[in-house]
Amino acid sequence: MKMIEAKNVKKYFPLKKSILSRNDRYLKALDGISLEIEKGVIHSLVGETGSGKTTFGRIVMALTPPTSGTVKVDGIDLFSLKKNEMKLIRKRIQIIFQDPYSSLNPKLKIRASITEPLKLNHVKFDEKMVTDVVESVGLKPASDYLDRFPGEMSGGQRQRAAIARAFAISPELIIADEPVSMVDVSIRADFLNLLRETNKRENLTVLLITHDLFVASYISDKISVLYLGKIVEEGSKEDIIERPLHPYTQALLDSIPILGMGEREVKIKGEIPNPIDLPSGCRFHPRCPFSEDKCRQIEPEYREIKRGHFVACHLY
Ligand SMILES: Nc1ncnc2c1ncn2[C@@H]1O[C@H](COP(=O)(O)OP(=O)(O)OP(=O)(O)O)[C@@H](O)[C@H]1O
Ligand SMILES: [Mg+2]
Repeated sequence: MKMIEAKNVKKYFPLKKSILSRNDRYLKALDGISLEIEKGVIHSLVGETGSGKTTFGRIVMALTPPTSGTVKVDGIDLFSLKKNEMKLIRKRIQIIFQDPYSSLNPKLKIRASITEPLKLNHVKFDEKMVTDVVESVGLKPASDYLDRFPGEMSGGQRQRAAIARAFAISPELIIADEPVSMVDVSIRADFLNLLRETNKRENLTVLLITHDLFVASYISDKISVLYLGKIVEEGSKEDIIERPLHPYTQALLDSIPILGMGEREVKIKGEIPNPIDLPSGCRFHPRCPFSEDKCRQIEPEYREIKRGHFVACHLY
């Protein structure tokens, strides 16, 4: 059963017209993403800054419509829903942001932040349930935290509270957008374990958005690698970490010493280009150590190389 089914999703942001450009110009944040996420799976979307990760997460949360393409959540087409149907589906999806301040209102005590979405969605709750969910994210005893404001807690505690808020409503899908990048390194594993435990216990589906392949490798079942608005490789965690095919994935791995491939070091040149003037052919070719004429001219097809392992690269 599929929790998310995205087909050829594009998100083009129109640019202001200038005297120099006669044509409409666009920033192509997502340039045709197809992604399927099975229920109960932790699926990571990995890529450098500006690759389109958050834009994709926002579309799946129905916070913004795609320019074209379709997104189904549990078989329901998100962007053909009426308002009340949208409310029902929203209740099943929660998002955790990098910055807990984006999900916690600084003017509300933790208790209110956690109960607010429950009230809004007419979910019955009692004190025990609130206490349980707060303690389940490691804020123990809950009574020490429920009456605090976010400003009265450490960054790590705030992120725990934001996760408790997302968990309270028992979502079926969590979109975690860089959930640990602002959390102290020493407690990152705790957070990821928390996601993993909830995923196992409640068959929670997780779309984990991260620029850090090491974070993705820690808890993911599947990994998709995004480059400039396109998925360049996708496979099981083992496929991506142990048998990466795309030179971009290989380079990302090599930048992480613990996961690096050792003998076959792949260095990428320069910075990620901006998504306004995309390179011709394969969009990775200007940075690819293996690029040939073909790569400059023809966009590689996204193909299944081995069961479940996809890549868009002329080398294969
Ligand atoms: N509302 C917007 N209007 C115009 N351009 C946007 C908008 N939102 C995002 N972009 C652009 O779209 C591209 C993708 O942005 P996005 O935030 O999805 O990337 P990301 O992979 O989440 O990056 P990061 O790792 O920095 O969070 C970027 O070039 C960004 O500047
Ligand atoms: Mg982002």
